[in-house]
Amino acid sequence: MKVMTIIGTRPEGIKMAPVIKALQDTPGMESVFVNTAQHRGMLDQVLGLFGLKPQYDLDLMKAGQGLEELTMRLFEGLQPVLEQEKPDVVLVHGDTTTTFVGAYAAFLKQIPVGHVEAGLRTNTLYSPFPEELNRQLVGRMAAYHFAATEANRENLINENVNPASIAVTGNTVIDALLEISERPVRCRTELEEIFANGRRTILVTTHRRENMEDMQHIYRALERIVDQYDDVQVVFPVHKNPAIRRSVMQVLTGRNRIHLVEPLAYAEFVHVMKHSFLVLTDSGGIQEEAPALGKPVLVARETTERPEGVEAGTLKLVGTSEERIVKACSTLLEDETAYRRMAEVRNPFGEGDAARRIIDVLQGQAAASGGQKVVSR
Ligand code: UD1
Ligand code: UDP
Repeated sequence: MKVMTIIGTRPEGIKMAPVIKALQDTPGMESVFVNTAQHRGMLDQVLGLFGLKPQYDLDLMKAGQGLEELTMRLFEGLQPVLEQEKPDVVLVHGDTTTTFVGAYAAFLKQIPVGHVEAGLRTNTLYSPFPEELNRQLVGRMAAYHFAATEANRENLINENVNPASIAVTGNTVIDALLEISERPVRCRTELEEIFANGRRTILVTTHRRENMEDMQHIYRALERIVDQYDDVQVVFPVHKNPAIRRSVMQVLTGRNRIHLVEPLAYAEFVHVMKHSFLVLTDSGGIQEEAPALGKPVLVARETTERPEGVEAGTLKLVGTSEERIVKACSTLLEDETAYRRMAEVRNPFGEGDAARRIIDVLQGQAAASGGQKVVSR
């Protein structure tokens, strides 16, 4: 069976690395790895860490790229690759523009699509934007739905997806996290010095498009928190998106105990998560990783597609209101019981064997179809 994996951004790289490696190591599977390079440096870091080299690199990233233009260039880039390789299955991950176009380009060639991390929903089309629509559209197109959790499976069933096409596998991010956690890490000196000072660290990341207008409320909340607690510091790896950078720099440049750093290599980032007191983020993947490391996460968004984390008690939605963020951080900084309740290690997102389970499903499908192509929904 020839399986083409199409990825383009940092989180897709982290979460699909275990799958690509498992495909490469499985007899009878031919792996074709396509990197659209919707992200460049941030994804290249990940591929280097996992030792992965794409067979096709479309090199699409442009500074400050617009979604329409990116979408068009993705179609143009992917069509000849699909025609050349004629894979039996195309795997995409999650909800980015690469994910949507990768799935649709394969669908137009009637190639079955496998959707990894299927069934996440907020059911609010503009939150996250444009990811909620992307994942819903891929859900209509996919022949195989690899859901991380039971709740994700139920979301798909509520949309009349054929239950036989859904497998609950856990999230591949746990596979990646476990693999990287076992490796020795060398952090840059700047980070070692920051963590040696004994202060409590709030780790922050922001990048959501729908938050763009309100980002500065998050940053003002951070200023207030470090002013209020002199044993607290912020470590903030700033996303490469130029619009985000401008917004962060405007408010936080030169602030005492607020360390703005370049995006961290994944191994470093995991190390920093482990050594942080709490995480404030609008990221998707970090909502899964931090609970697995026993770190409370304040989610700077109005919605989450990961209610399992909220139910388990490790995620709390705080939106982008300055007041709510200051209040939630203060509670965790001052109230040990409240902190412990959120820091309990309860990881609802998998056991670290998701990639293996995905390959098992594909192998089962290959055996059942006797090499025939399957287009099933
Ligand atoms: C994209 C995804 C989002 C995902 C996020 C992960 C879409 C619509 N958005 O958002 O779902 O959560 O990635 O981070 O698919 N840039 C660099 N170097 C890099 C990466 C990005 O300079 O390695 C800059 C470029 O100027 C680029 C801009 O960031 O144009 C935005 O990148 P883009 O992929 O369009 O959007 P993200 O906000 O990163
Ligand atoms: N991450 C990283 N370095 C950083 C910040 C994040 O390696 O400086 C990792 C993080 O551990 C997670 C992923 O990037 O696995 C999340 O990416 P992002 O927040 O950009 O995207 P999302 O998950 O929201 O789609």
